[in-house]
Amino acid sequence: MFEKEISFIKSLFDKENIPLHEPCFVGNEKKYLNECIDSGFVSSVGKFVGEFEEKISKLCQSKFAVATNSGTSALHIALLANEVGENDEVITQSISFVATANAIAYTGAKPIFLDIDEQSLSLSPKALKKFLQEQSYIKDKKCFNKNTHKQIKACVPMHTFGLGAKIEELKALCEENFIILIEDAAEALGSFYKEKALGSFGKCGILSFNGNKTITGGCGGVILSDDESLAKKARHLSTTAKIPHPYEYIHDEVGYNYRLCNVNAAILVAQLENLELFLKDKRELAGLYKDFFKGSENFKFIDEMPETRSNFWLNAVLLKDEQARENFIKECLGNNIFVRGAWKSLPSLKPFENCFKDELINTQRLERRIVNLPSSVRIRKI
Ligand SMILES: Cc1ncc(COP(=O)(O)O)c(C=O)c1O
Repeated sequence: MFEKEISFIKSLFDKENIPLHEPCFVGNEKKYLNECIDSGFVSSVGKFVGEFEEKISKLCQSKFAVATNSGTSALHIALLANEVGENDEVITQSISFVATANAIAYTGAKPIFLDIDEQSLSLSPKALKKFLQEQSYIKDKKCFNKNTHKQIKACVPMHTFGLGAKIEELKALCEENFIILIEDAAEALGSFYKEKALGSFGKCGILSFNGNKTITGGCGGVILSDDESLAKKARHLSTTAKIPHPYEYIHDEVGYNYRLCNVNAAILVAQLENLELFLKDKRELAGLYKDFFKGSENFKFIDEMPETRSNFWLNAVLLKDEQARENFIKECLGNNIFVRGAWKSLPSLKPFENCFKDELINTQRLERRIVNLPSSVRIRKI
């Protein structure tokens, strides 16, 4: 049924089994790992952690970067550093990886799930505006939920597949309503809106360097911010809230052991050296998919947003209906091509089924039709 599409995907990757997104190690990864082992600095202290933070903050146009052991821990700390807690509510989008909602839940705050935008597949500014107009009020420069009277402290849009949310509109709405903007840019390293890095628009942004991301350290994450005191607080919380002292163990609050290790940072420093090459290759691949699906009756390639330069982390297509999507996924898997559908909507998951959600019009229309295509960097040697 989908022979043409299957043979096209096979032609893009010279492999028996085509993964969705595999890491690409063609640079100094082994060399830097050896340096860690030879020096004995394999844990949370070591030169690569600082080097990575410096490089990633420059690249992401943020004054400060705090490296963590995952994107999830980065988001958890970003929320805590902004004093999001038990009595608060946090707005996020209905479709994301579960980590977005989990990190909110870890703080004790309740997520509010709003619809996605049909173009960007990220939080819809229209849905946010409607929710705030109808369901919130402002008092003493704070935003409260009309129904629960809890403070809506933060908003966490996620830049789905690296495509880029309508971030300027979201930012303006957050500012007007005294809501802290924290970007989940886990998937968006190397994506820009009007030349500004995604992850650098909010008070904080976070990135993930999990094994399936554009660059990876095996694991890893980072909190980005221009706010020095916030970055300090994030660093403190992610390193067990230990007060620096030559020999005493003094911790001034409940902290977390979330610091990135030097071995992971060593891999990341090497990966960063090739990021431009990776992004070029991913853009080329996206161009090939785009041309191939042009004019197709069954598939619509989901392109980058106007004025946005996507990293095309995971290429995505929209199938004409749920049945077509299922048939396509099954046929690809049968041919050892690893594609996947979009995540199930977060409020449909058991831990979040009692949370507020809006009508989710686009979510319902789109969630059962999106398919991610193999999107690995294809460089095997430099
Ligand atoms: C949107 C989103 N948020 C958060 C995360 C969490 O990152 P990590 O897996 O590094 O914890 C991921 C990816 O894994 C993600 O895709």
